[in-house]
Amino acid sequence: MAAPSSDNPTIEWVDGSIRMIDQTRLPGEFAIINAHHVHTLVEAIKTLAVRGAPAIGVAGAYGVALATREFPVDRDRSAFDEAVQTIRSARPTAVNLAKRVDEVLADIRDSSLPAERAALQAADRIRDEELEASVAMGDRGAYFVLDLCDGGPVRAMTICNTGGLATVERGTALAVIQRLHELGHLTEALPVETRPLLQGGRLTTWELHRMGAPFRLMVDSAGPFLLSRGQADVVLIGADRIAANGDTANKIGSFSLALGARHAGVPFIVVAPESTIDMATETGTDIEIEDRGPTEVITAMGTPIAEAHTDAVNPAFDVTPAELITAIVTERRVIRLDQGDTLDRIDSLAPEDIL
Ligand code: MRU
Repeated sequence: MAAPSSDNPTIEWVDGSIRMIDQTRLPGEFAIINAHHVHTLVEAIKTLAVRGAPAIGVAGAYGVALATREFPVDRDRSAFDEAVQTIRSARPTAVNLAKRVDEVLADIRDSSLPAERAALQAADRIRDEELEASVAMGDRGAYFVLDLCDGGPVRAMTICNTGGLATVERGTALAVIQRLHELGHLTEALPVETRPLLQGGRLTTWELHRMGAPFRLMVDSAGPFLLSRGQADVVLIGADRIAANGDTANKIGSFSLALGARHAGVPFIVVAPESTIDMATETGTDIEIEDRGPTEVITAMGTPIAEAHTDAVNPAFDVTPAELITAIVTERRVIRLDQGDTLDRIDSLAPEDIL
C-alpha cells in the first residue's frame, strides 16, 4: 500500500463511480470504496472515509457528476437538487465542500455540454487545481519555514492529517514537511495523535512512514508543553475555513498549539489552498463548527472508555484567532499576519521574495 500518488490517488473517477481510499481503515488495512450512488458518497464524507478540506471539495465536485447520472436533470430536477444538497451539506465547517459543489453547478449551467460531461470536466479541473496547489504550497512553505528558522534543520509540529490523504496528493502542512524532508532540512516531524478519531496517529504516521521522513508521535496534550521546552521550531497546520480577517478553523487542538507556540515564541503557520479562504465569512465567530456527538468521545476505536450513557461535547474543529498566526501560506502567496498583511491584499508577498 503506497502513499497517495498519481498511481494511487486518494480520490478518482473510474467508470462512472468515485473511487476513494477508505481512511477509516488505515493504517491497518488499505481498502477502497467505490461510490456508484450519491448516498454512498455522502456516507463516506460523514464517516470521514474521505476527509480533509481539499479532499472533500474534490469528492463533492465528482459527487455532482454522480448525481447527474443517478438523477438526470432533464428527468427530475428536484431529485437532482435534493441529491446535490445532501452532498453540499454533508459536513459544514470546511468551506471547500460547498464551494466546489457550487462551482460545478455553475459550470453545468454555463456549459453547452451534457450535464454529466460538464460536471466531470469541472471536477477534473478542480482536482488538477488542488494537485498543483499542493505542490506549490509545499515548495513555498518549505522555503518560507527555512527562512524563518535560519536555514534549518527544522523540527515541525503538526496536527491531524494534512497530507495526500486530505487533498489528492502531497497535501498542505504535510506537503511542507515532505518538502523539507526532500530538501534534507527536516530533523523530525512531531504529529499529535488528534483525538478522538486519531487522524494524526493513524493517517499522518502512515504517510510520514511512506515518505521516509523521521517522526515521533505525541499525545495531544503534550504539544504545548513540548513547545515550551523548545522541542519544535515551527508549528504547521492546515485549515478547513479561513475567515476574511485570517481567523482559521482547523482540527480541534489547533488553538491549544497556537497558544503554546505564542507562549514559546515559535512561529505558527497555516498552510492552505486559496480555495479554503472564505472572504464571505468575516471572522471566526461566524464559522459553523461541526459537533460530531458523544460516541467518538466516550469510545476509542470502538472500545468504551467512559461510563455508558456519558454525555459529551465533541467539536471537530476550533478557531485560532488571526493574532496568534504568524503567516498563512497558499499556492499563490505568503500572508504575514504578524507583519500586518491582510487576506484582501492579493500580492502581499511576491513569490520571488521567498523562493
Ligand atoms: O475532520 P477532518 O479529518 O476532515 O479534519 C481535517 C483537518 O482539520 C485538516 O487539518 C484540514 O482539513 C486541512 S487538510 C489539508
